[in-house]
Order: sequence, then C-alpha cells, then structure tokens
Amino acid sequence: MNVLWIFAHPERHSLSGALRDEGHRVLEGLGHEVRTSDLYGMGWNPVVDGDDFAHDPGQRLIVGAASQEAHARGTLSEDIRAEHEKLRWADAVVLQFPLWWYGMPAILKGWFDRVFVKGFAYGVVDGGRTLRYGDGVLRGKRAMAVVTAGAPAPTIGPRGVNGDIDELLFPLQHGALFYTGMAVLPPFVVPGADRVSPADYACAAAGLGERLRTLGTAEPIPFRHQNGGDYDDRLVLRPELAPDRTGVRVHYAES
Ligand SMILES: Cc1cc2nc3c(=O)[nH]c(=O)nc-3n(C[C@H](O)[C@H](O)[C@H](O)COP(=O)(O)O)c2cc1C
Repeated sequence: MNVLWIFAHPERHSLSGALRDEGHRVLEGLGHEVRTSDLYGMGWNPVVDGDDFAHDPGQRLIVGAASQEAHARGTLSEDIRAEHEKLRWADAVVLQFPLWWYGMPAILKGWFDRVFVKGFAYGVVDGGRTLRYGDGVLRGKRAMAVVTAGAPAPTIGPRGVNGDIDELLFPLQHGALFYTGMAVLPPFVVPGADRVSPADYACAAAGLGERLRTLGTAEPIPFRHQNGGDYDDRLVLRPELAPDRTGVRVHYAES
C-alpha cells in the first residue's frame, strides 16, 4: 500500500516523533511505501490567502469558488498541488498529532483548509447529488488518526470530564475524512502522554504497530452514508433510527 503520513508536531525528539519513526519502521517492514508531510519541517503555511489561487487583489474573493476554479485551471499554489499529488498517490492516510485544546494543532487544521479545496475534496456533483459523507471524491482511501493526549484514559472515555475522544475527533473523522469519502479507521490514541515511562512507551509502540499491521483490512468506523437511505431529504436522520437520541453518536450506524 502507499501510505501518506501527515505529521503535525513541532519537535521530532518527542513522544510523537518517536512514535512516527516507529510507525514508519513497521510500515516499511511490511513492504508498504511511505511518504511524509512533516508540516512543521516543511514550514507549511496554514493560512488561506488570495495567493493560493493566483487571485486578483482587486476582486472580491469567494474562497470556495476561487479555489475550485484554480484547481480546475491547475493554478493552485505549488505547495497545495504537491499535497494533492501525494493524496492521489495514497491508499491510506495517517494523521498524527498531539491533542491541543481539544483538537488538532492549527498547522494541521490549516493543512485541511488549504488542501481540501472545492473541486478536489468536496463540492463535486454526480447525477444531481453532491458527493459527500462516505461517497465523496476521496472514496477508496483509508484514514486513521494517531493522537497523543495529556489526559488520562478515563477522562477521555464516554463519561470523562474531557469528553469522549470519539466525540472530540468527530469534526476531523466525520467532518473532514468521512465527508470527503474516506473509510475512517478507529483512532489510535495514547492517553496520559505527558508522563510516559519506558514501559508505557513500549506498550504504545507495540499498540501502534498492531494497528498499522491492519491498516489495509481493519473495519472502519460505521458512519452512516449520506446517500444510504438513513437521512431524509433535508439530510436529517430518519426518526425511526436512533429514536429519541441526539448528538454525534447517532451518525454511527450501530447506534
Ligand atoms: C497547547 C497545548 C494544548 C493542549 N491541550 C490538550 C487537550 O486539550 N487535551 C489533552 O488531553 N492534552 C492537551 N495537551 C497535552 C498534549 O496533548 C500532550 O502534551 C502531548 O500529546 C504529548 O505528546 P508529545 O510529547 O509528543 O508532545 C495540550 C498541550 C499543549 C502544548
């Protein structure tokens, strides 16, 4: 498999850096080809601006339309086009980051903002229906988040004070990865990441290795497909499904 590894941590001599090296070692040992976007290492610009689209500064900028046009013309800025090329090449994408303020670091959010442009990652219509939520244009690719979190495991569990990690990751996993059509594998999370003993590290490295061994075969999170019949014409979940329940969990088919 071709694996694209997006690394969003400023320091390679960190827990995250060590896990990345271990992950690459495992994947390459399995015969996969790995390419990396080390966002800090690349000096990735996370901020959308008119230059991304060769924009005329005299004109009012509608970002979605401008990026779609620039994508169609092949005039998106070079760093964005390079990420598109890597994404086209990839069968699987690993997104690795430390949990910062309940989410991904800004540099990674800015990777999505600039790379997942209209026409490339969303906004494509087929047979009158917009392709998204399971049917998006990146369909056929797999994705997995690898996340370190300072919070101890129980505090990011279903009733933990920090909120359930699956819900914290919903914007990334459902809103970006599944929205654009990828099959999203359950995340690999290392909790308690600010105090890691050598034994803890060995356990985390072994766990990551296990998850990477099944990157091509593991069952994805059973998010409901937009066009699979579970949603009505307004894209609201049908009342007979997960009745009387609300919140992000209702978008899991098993709920
Ligand atoms: C700016 C910042 C915000 C953070 N926010 C959170 C958070 O919301 N939840 C959490 O569990 N840990 C949080 N942490 C702790 C980091 O997740 C933790 O330090 C990191 O995952 C450890 O891995 P590393 O050594 O590779 O950086 C935060 C750390 C920083 C620096």
